[in-house]
Amino acid sequence: MAFDRFGRRLHYLRISLTDHCNLRCVYCMPEEMVFRPNRELMQDEEVLFLARLFVRLGFDKIRLTGGEPTVRMNVVELVRQIAAIEGLKTLTMTTNGILLPKLAQKLKDAGLQRVNISLDTLRADKFQTLTRWGRVEDVWAGIRAAEEAGLTPIKINAVVVRNYNEEDVVEIARLTLDHPWQIRFIEMMPLGGATEFQQQQLVTMEEVFSMVEAAFGPLESLHDGELDGEARVYRIPGAQGEVGFIASVTKPFCALCTRARLTADGKLRLCLLREGEVDLLTPLRQGATEEELRDLILAGLWEKPWGHGLAQNEIAVNRVMSEIGG
Ligand code: 5AD
Ligand code: SF4
Repeated sequence: MAFDRFGRRLHYLRISLTDHCNLRCVYCMPEEMVFRPNRELMQDEEVLFLARLFVRLGFDKIRLTGGEPTVRMNVVELVRQIAAIEGLKTLTMTTNGILLPKLAQKLKDAGLQRVNISLDTLRADKFQTLTRWGRVEDVWAGIRAAEEAGLTPIKINAVVVRNYNEEDVVEIARLTLDHPWQIRFIEMMPLGGATEFQQQQLVTMEEVFSMVEAAFGPLESLHDGELDGEARVYRIPGAQGEVGFIASVTKPFCALCTRARLTADGKLRLCLLREGEVDLLTPLRQGATEEELRDLILAGLWEKPWGHGLAQNEIAVNRVMSEIGG
C-alpha cells in the first residue's frame, strides 16, 4: 500500500490519456492551444505498464481523463486492458460526452463502469461560448447513450463561471427532479493558462448552494453531511437525483485526498494545484526496472504536498488543466 508522510493512504489514480480535446472550454485552455506531439505522450503499453504498477501498490480506483479521453486512438482497447488488471475495483472516466453516442456501449462492454460528463449550461448559445466549439445537443446525445449503455449512475459536472453560467445553476439542478443523476457544481480553480480569468470569475459553492435553496427550498443532506469523495451531497426533496457541491477553492478537501495523477506525458503529479511532479516516462523509456520505477513512485507519493496554496495565492502555472485531467 502507498502512503504519504501525512498518513493519507493513496489509492485513487487519475490517468490523463491525452492532452488533446475536441472542445476549448474557456476556463481550461486557450483557443490556440498547442498540444503535445504523440511521441511525448504515453503509448498504450506504457499506460498499461504504469497502471499495473500502481494497482500493485494498492491503487484500486482509476479514472481516465484528458484533455478528452475519448479522442485517444484505441481508447476502447486500452480500457479493456486496464479493466482486466487484477486488483482494480473501479474504472471510470471523465468526458465531455461528445463522442459517447459512438463509444458508450463499446466502453461499457470493455469494462468501463461509469462516466462523469461535463455540462455547464443547458443553453445552446452559452454552451458554445463556454466551450468555444461545442454543440450542447451532442452532450445530450452523449448522456442518453451513457444511460442506455448502463454507464451509471451518471454524474454531471458543472463548473460555475461568473457572467457565463451562474444563472443556469437552478435549471441544471432541476434536472435531478426527473433524472437519477448526481449533478455536481464545481468551483473554478486557478491553474495555468487562464488564471486571472479563473480567479476573477469564481463563484463560490456557498453562493451556488444559496441559489439552489432559494429555488427549491431546504436541501436534504445525504451521507450524514460527510464528503462523498470530494462533494457534499444533497437532495432536492422528492428528487430522483442528487446535487453535489465541490468547493475545491473555498473549502479544500485536501485532508481526505487519496489521489495521485498521471499526466498524459507520463509524469506523476502529486497535487492538481501544485507544480511538483516525478517523471516516470523518461526512466521507463530508458529501461528502468520495475523495481526502480516502483521506488520512484513510492518516494514521490510520500512527498505528496499537504494541500494546495490557493489561500496564499500560490498558483500552479506549469500546466493547463487539459494536461492533467482535473
Ligand atoms: N476549474 C474547475 N474545473 C475545471 N475543469 C476544467 N477546467 C477547470 C477549472 N479551471 C473541469 C471540466 C471537467 C473536468 C475535466 O474538469 O469542466 O468537468
Ligand atoms: Fe476539453 Fe474538458 Fe478542457 Fe473543456 S474542460 S476544453 S472539454 S478538456
